[in-house]
Amino acid sequence: MIRVNENYKKLKSSYLFADIAKRVEQYQQENPDKNIIRLGIGDVTKALPDACIKAFHAGVDEMANDKSFRGYGPEQGYAFLREKIARYDFQARGADISADEIFVSDGAKCDTGNFQELFASDIKVAIPDPVYPVYLDTNIMAGRTGDFADGRYQGLVYLDSTKENNFLPDLPDASCDLIYLCFPNNPTGATITKAVLEKWVTYARENQALILFDAAYEAFIRDDSLPRSIYEIKGADEVAVEFRSFSKTAGFTGTRCAYTVVPRACMIFDETGEKTGLHALWNRRHSTKFNGVSYPVQRAAEAVYSEEGAVQTKALVSYYLKNADLIRHTMDDLGFDCVGGENSPYIWVDGNGRDSWAFFDMLLSKAGVVCTPGAGFGLCGGDYIRISAFNSRENIEAAMIRIKEALK
Ligand code: MLT
Repeated sequence: MIRVNENYKKLKSSYLFADIAKRVEQYQQENPDKNIIRLGIGDVTKALPDACIKAFHAGVDEMANDKSFRGYGPEQGYAFLREKIARYDFQARGADISADEIFVSDGAKCDTGNFQELFASDIKVAIPDPVYPVYLDTNIMAGRTGDFADGRYQGLVYLDSTKENNFLPDLPDASCDLIYLCFPNNPTGATITKAVLEKWVTYARENQALILFDAAYEAFIRDDSLPRSIYEIKGADEVAVEFRSFSKTAGFTGTRCAYTVVPRACMIFDETGEKTGLHALWNRRHSTKFNGVSYPVQRAAEAVYSEEGAVQTKALVSYYLKNADLIRHTMDDLGFDCVGGENSPYIWVDGNGRDSWAFFDMLLSKAGVVCTPGAGFGLCGGDYIRISAFNSRENIEAAMIRIKEALK
């Protein structure tokens, strides 16, 4: 008898963004004339930078010729891309990461979701609340939680991010083995200073724990004092894995390219307490289950590091940051307490006592604007909505006018 993985029964019926898409689709069917502005899922709307497009085309042309054609590439990514990543994203900022510690992939969603496979099923996992749902759902699928009760899964350590702690969770009281952190944060948009990040690294070192650090939004950091990588903290290479993505940095959500950094110094432990290198384990998993990102896409990603690509990519991020600024100021002026939108494309808005799904429904029906209800990110998000800055300036301006009208 073929039997189900019982852990799947503990999951909520659908993935958050699929759930929202379904509600919006239904609303659109019932209101076919209504123009909807989507500021829900963080999906980019502007074209790829010109430098990336040129490199993408050139890569496709190479595939059109027997002499330059390429079949399977290295699962970990081509050296031309891994070397640029190591040099420009890490070494240039004083982080001693080498090209062979970079694993190119088709997305930070897949990597942050898949990485937990390497760990025992009875480890103690610390998950922020609110949180990007992928970290939580994949641990539920893997059987690391009990049932859902009172808004939370049993067996996890929740790291609350609230107004009271400036959306920076405190270190856990109990000893945890695996810790998920994301900065600039999705969904709150909060950022972390080097001093605070240092405390997490120290905690991980003292507790033989591992930090999975999601830095998918680092390109939005414009405050130079903030760390862009956890490896800017001394000793982090022994206790942290970092996830990065070209999705939001360079408009690759539909093109797909990301990477994960697994330093060779990073160790985990077997049941006898013996050290095991995490790099070799991830390499084994990656090369067994993944066949690499397509060659033209890796060429397009490489172009991000060219002189013109760097300028164009920065301009793209600045465009969305200006949108974020408009949203943040509008919501501030309307009397909402907000966080994010400064070094982040997300604005986390306290609904002033409104339930997040009620706020979502009100904005959809009265303003035709889609946001993300905070409850979808966890119990601590119940009174918040997240507004994404990924859309055209015209749509952001129109959405802000509509929200002002709706709240009159
Ligand atoms: C989000 O809206 O949180 C992100 O776009 C989702 C993702 O990157 O998978």
